[in-house]
Amino acid sequence: MATTRTVKVRVNGVAYEQTVEARKTLVDFLREDVGLTGTNVGCEHGVCGACTILMNGEAVRSCIMLAAQADGADLMTVEGLAKAGGELHPIQEAFTEKHALQCGYCTPGMLMTCSALLEQNRNPSEQEIRQAISGNLCRCTGYLNIVKAVQHAAQKIGGAP
Ligand code: FES
Ligand code: FES
Repeated sequence: MATTRTVKVRVNGVAYEQTVEARKTLVDFLREDVGLTGTNVGCEHGVCGACTILMNGEAVRSCIMLAAQADGADLMTVEGLAKAGGELHPIQEAFTEKHALQCGYCTPGMLMTCSALLEQNRNPSEQEIRQAISGNLCRCTGYLNIVKAVQHAAQKIGGAP
């Protein structure tokens, strides 16, 4: 019989309590148990960043964490970026306006990484942006428009001149 753990978390401000297999990854918990499928699964070994979410405000890779490790944490997924009324987060608007996505597979993870960056640094340099997204692989965009989008979002938020 599989070993189980009870996991209590807040996801995008909503409390969840669920008993899961102890070996269940956090990304599978979010997608299968919580029902939030915006977080993508790519490499499943911590390389591509597609599964990036925020845990207590820090960007983490949910494919290399167990759901049980998140017990007690405050999580945010890409579904939590927009406001309840549907108003997009500035980083989401900026990705749209600067054409920072093509296939979109990397995009949820990129958005979470970039939103965490902008929380910590309201006016990041190009090098700081490139450094921040260096752990998120994108096969489509060449990163140029993603960098532009982060700069644009910084202006929207009011940090950049
Ligand atoms: S799916 Fe998690 S880092 Fe690639
Ligand atoms: S937009 Fe296709 S992988 Fe990034």
